[in-house]
Amino acid sequence: MLRRLHPEQPDTFAFTPANQAWAEAQMTKYPKGRQASAIIPLLWRAQEQEGWLSRPAIEHVSEMLGLAYIRGLEVATFYFMFQLQPVGSVAHIQICGTTTCMICGAEDLVSVCKERIAQNPHELSADGKFSWEEVECLGACANAPMAQIGKDYYEDLTAENFGKLLDALAKGDVPVPGPQQGRYAAEPASGLTSLTQHDSGKTRYNASAQLAVDIGDTVKRIDGTEVPLLAPWQGKPGKAANAAAKPKKAAPAKTPAKAAAAAAETPAKGPGKKPRTMKAPRKSGADDLKLIKGVGPKLETMLQGMGFFHFDQIAKWGAAEVAWVDENLEGFKGRVSRDNWVDQAQKLAAGEETAFAAKARKDGRYDGES
Ligand code: FES
Repeated sequence: MLRRLHPEQPDTFAFTPANQAWAEAQMTKYPKGRQASAIIPLLWRAQEQEGWLSRPAIEHVSEMLGLAYIRGLEVATFYFMFQLQPVGSVAHIQICGTTTCMICGAEDLVSVCKERIAQNPHELSADGKFSWEEVECLGACANAPMAQIGKDYYEDLTAENFGKLLDALAKGDVPVPGPQQGRYAAEPASGLTSLTQHDSGKTRYNASAQLAVDIGDTVKRIDGTEVPLLAPWQGKPGKAANAAAKPKKAAPAKTPAKAAAAAAETPAKGPGKKPRTMKAPRKSGADDLKLIKGVGPKLETMLQGMGFFHFDQIAKWGAAEVAWVDENLEGFKGRVSRDNWVDQAQKLAAGEETAFAAKARKDGRYDGES
C-alpha cells in the first residue's frame, strides 16, 4: 500500500506546552547525540494530540531532534501505526482482518464500517466523526473478531454489538472496552472447566479493560495534562524533571556583535568551508534576513550569532560555504540548500524582490521556519 502525505495539510503544528515538555523529557532518555532515537515516541505523541500526522508535525519533530525532514518522513511513512490522513474526530476504528478474526466474522464488521462510516478505508464519515481501516493481527485472537478503537481493544464483536458501540461513541459515550459478549477475559466462551476460582471478584472488568476504564482516555486526544509527566529515568517527577530535561540553551548573546565576535573564534566544524563572518552589522544596520524563505526569527538570531548580518554575505557563499553553514545550523541542518538561500540572497542583495519577500513584507509575517 502506498503511504503518502495527505494532499491537504495544515499550515503549522505545535505541541501543547505539556506535550512539548513531555517530548523534551523523552529526548533525555538517550545519550548525547543520539536524540534521533526518540523519533517514534515524539511522532506518536504528535499523533495522540492531533489524531494524525501532518507534514508540519513530522517536520516539527524532525527539527526537535536535529534531523533532516526526509529522516522524519521516512519513519512516519514506513510504520502503519502512523496515520497520514485526518481521522474521525470521535474515533478511528481499526478492524483486525487476519485469519482468526476473518473466520470469526471480521468481514461482517468491515461491512458495518462501509455502511455506517464510509465505503473506503481512511475515508471520513459524512459527519467527520469516524474513519476506519483494516489492520493485521492485533494479538487478541482468542477474542476474535475484534477491533481497536482509540487506544483500547473491543473484543468478541458481532455486527450487532459493534453497531451499538458506534451508536454509543457517536453520542459521546465511551463504551467499556474488552469482551462484548459476557466473557471476563479470554476464558472459553462456554465457561471455565478448570481453575474456576479465578480472581474476577477483585476488579469489575479484566485487568486491561479495568485499567482502560480507570484511565478513561480511550478515544481522547492527549494534550499532556491527563497524567503527571514523569521522567523516571531521572528519578524526578513532573515539572522538575522536565525543567531538567530541557536542552540547555546557550546563554543568549547580549548583542549580535558580541555573539559574532565569539563565533568568529569558534573553529569550523564539519564539512565545507566556514564563510567569512563580520563582527557586527554595518552602520546602516543588519538586513532583515527573515525575508529569505526558510529563515524565521530563530534562524535569524542564530545567523547573526554566527556573524552573518547581510544578504550580500550569504549571496557570496559557494558550495563549500553552503555545506559548512548547513552542517552548523543546530536544529536546522540542511536549511541553506533546502530553501536555496544563496539565490534568494543574491536577488535581495541586488535590490530585487522575491515572491516570498514581497508576501512577507505585505503580510508583516514570516513563517519560513515552519
Ligand atoms: S487475528 Fe485478529 S487479533 Fe489476531
